Amino acid sequence: MFLKHLECSACGLHHEWSRLQNLCLSCQKPLLAIVDLAAARRALTRETLATREKSLWRYREVLPLAGDVGPISLGEGGTPLLRAQKFADDVDLWIKDESLNPTQSFKARGMSVAVSMAKYLDATKLAVPSAGNAGGALAAYSARAGLEAHIFMPRDTPRANIVECRELGAHVTLIDGLITNCGAEIGRRKMKEGWFDMSTLKEPYRVEGKKTLGYELAEQCDWQLPDVILYPTGGGTGLIGMWKAFDEMEALGWIGNKRPRMFAVQASGCAPIVRAFDAGEKSAAEFPNPHTIAAGLRVPKAIGDFLILKILRDSNGGAIAVDDKEMIRVTREVGASEGLFIAPEAAACFAAFKHLRSAGKVGSGERVVIFNTGSGIKYLDCYEAY
Ligand SMILES: Cc1ncc(COP(=O)(O)O)c(C=O)c1O
Ligand SMILES: [Zn+2]
Repeated sequence: MFLKHLECSACGLHHEWSRLQNLCLSCQKPLLAIVDLAAARRALTRETLATREKSLWRYREVLPLAGDVGPISLGEGGTPLLRAQKFADDVDLWIKDESLNPTQSFKARGMSVAVSMAKYLDATKLAVPSAGNAGGALAAYSARAGLEAHIFMPRDTPRANIVECRELGAHVTLIDGLITNCGAEIGRRKMKEGWFDMSTLKEPYRVEGKKTLGYELAEQCDWQLPDVILYPTGGGTGLIGMWKAFDEMEALGWIGNKRPRMFAVQASGCAPIVRAFDAGEKSAAEFPNPHTIAAGLRVPKAIGDFLILKILRDSNGGAIAVDDKEMIRVTREVGASEGLFIAPEAAACFAAFKHLRSAGKVGSGERVVIFNTGSGIKYLDCYEAY
């Protein structure tokens, strides 16, 4: 076990990992896992990795969970990095296809690690507010772990996500409101019900699972990070996790100090990070009246906003919003040209890519990676409505 302690991402206060933790006990900001990278460096080399199973648990030494404890796994990670065939002209565009994860989205990565740790630390009932895919993933991993899952979703969450959670044995509550209202409901009831809150960035290990997006990408790119990354940003866990992975890999001696320009892509109807980025703010105000078919982007207020904004600025990247009609149009374009039925959140990234390209913010010959974070199959009601 190379995990040392948990550290507050805002005030730096240390917390023990050996019991269940949510936010910083002093300032209520997210906690991040600090790994003993000097020890991990001695134990794990890039060469050893090549011989390991195709799962995110191949990066075991930099993940939490004691070495002799079996993770709760459904075969997450190890997803393909596909070269775009027709979508890009003279740009070296790649698609990391996360729809091939268990429950068809990248949320499986975070939940495999977080549910493994929650079980290890004796949680029995897990609760999450979800825009859709996180709920499905929690339901699956909880079932696998023999734990109860309590999932709170907005009533207008895509049908497939709701049915999926129920069929996986979770307790599903539909709320007339947004994901923030779902989170507040869990906050009100969790003490009495004995639930452990698995909200994104309100527990420290979903981000550890998501950071494997960064490890895997580096490994697949032969340890040369791309020039640009476009990431559909709701809570921002993947963005924060990847950035953490890049720093860890540099400390491990696996990559140099070059970093991709990171772009957060949001929906025009819910773009708190884009607004804050454009206004030069360090945190993002709640976005009023949020609406978009890209359910995963319908996050009006992210607890990790200050971390996301710092990454976008430190990386010399940016934030860009795309409207729903364009997402639908681009889904068909990507489907017909690349053979992938992508989620609308990812379609926003393909549309953003076009905008960045025509604004000259992505240059010819640059290597760009877009994350297809989920499957279009989960959004049939949205696609049929157009
Ligand atoms: C398909 C999809 N893409 C992107 C996101 C946003 O992810 P994050 O919360 O890591 O920003 C979500 C979140 O629900 C999602 O389901
Ligand atoms: Zn703190």
